[in-house]
Amino acid sequence: MKTYGRYPVVAWRGEGCRLWDVDGKGYLDFLAGVAVNNLGHCHPKVVAALQEQSSRLLHCSNFYHIPQQIELAEWLCNHSFADRVFFCNSGAEANEAAIKLARKHSRERFGEGRFEVVTALASFHGRTIGTISATGQDKVKAGFDPLVPGFRYVPFGDMQALRKGITPQTCAIMLEPVQGEGGVNIPPAGFLEKVRALCDEFDLLLICDEVQVGCGRTGTLWAYEQEAIVPDIMTLAKALAGGPPIGAMLTTESLAESLGPGTHGSTFGGNPLVCSAALAALHTIVDDGVLDNCRAMGTYLVQKLAQLQGKYSFIREIRGRGLIIGMEMDIDGGPLVTAALERGLLINCTVGKVLRFVPPLIVGCAEIDEAIRILDDVLATVEAP
Ligand SMILES: Cc1ncc(COP(=O)(O)O)c(C=O)c1O
Repeated sequence: MKTYGRYPVVAWRGEGCRLWDVDGKGYLDFLAGVAVNNLGHCHPKVVAALQEQSSRLLHCSNFYHIPQQIELAEWLCNHSFADRVFFCNSGAEANEAAIKLARKHSRERFGEGRFEVVTALASFHGRTIGTISATGQDKVKAGFDPLVPGFRYVPFGDMQALRKGITPQTCAIMLEPVQGEGGVNIPPAGFLEKVRALCDEFDLLLICDEVQVGCGRTGTLWAYEQEAIVPDIMTLAKALAGGPPIGAMLTTESLAESLGPGTHGSTFGGNPLVCSAALAALHTIVDDGVLDNCRAMGTYLVQKLAQLQGKYSFIREIRGRGLIIGMEMDIDGGPLVTAALERGLLINCTVGKVLRFVPPLIVGCAEIDEAIRILDDVLATVEAP
């Protein structure tokens, strides 16, 4: 179906930070499958894990125990606040699971009528009917009424508005620690800590949607680690398996009690193939210096973009954390994305005027220099407004 506005590129092969099309034209990939290929394309350890697992067992029902799923859940719990993990196949599904858990837990603990989730304006939580209802952007909801009731939206990063958004019906606050699709929005320092305190004050669950910014993207394994907080629920997807589709909802032992046998499920969730890839990807991120590289290259890329900002007056702001970086401009970014693609650089544009850079976390200085040269060429063609 025509649900995507596609560029005229037929993808064929990938290696590291590069993608090649069927005609052999190479692209420097600073979009990384929208923050999926954190280890670059076809990382050898992820490919080896897939090859090894695929020769033994491709799929097995969740009626039975799956060792790779157990090992992955243990790894995630040992490296996060969580005690329990539910596996699914995408970010939207992970958020659906989080919303179901928040509602069910609240009903069991406080009785009926406490089901609302407060989310942020400009947030993005997925494309299912439930997660577009949770999303604070009208454009993703248009035409799909009636939406799921029970969501309220407040400006991102605004504590006063958040406090006002809480009603006797509220059961949870759901936030991206850094907003991705909404324009790479970084909240004020200390925001997450204050949100945590607010949740504690009103007995609300804090749900961190780390679908885009988890798995090392911000320079720490989880974005919530950048402030001294722990969420009650965290959702992951995108980069978790280094390319293959996966989603996960992580939570504490006591909350997990609310989703007992038969309350939720997924045929493919926690499939042995994808779990073996995720284990390889996560081990690589933590053991191979990927987080250090992400922080160092994030600083380098911001510096280089700031030099471009000094040169082009229509660049308004460079903002980012680790290797999720936005460049806000006074002009429409769409034509710049097309011009960059023609010159062999893949980037994208969110909310019309913010170019988003989410290269693989293994990117090096030489690749960043090359991307900046292409971008400079592209920006030089723009007539200042
Ligand atoms: C923060 C966030 N949550 C949820 C989603 C939805 O993930 P998926 O497309 O895997 O359903 C996305 C996708 O961009 C996202 O960025």
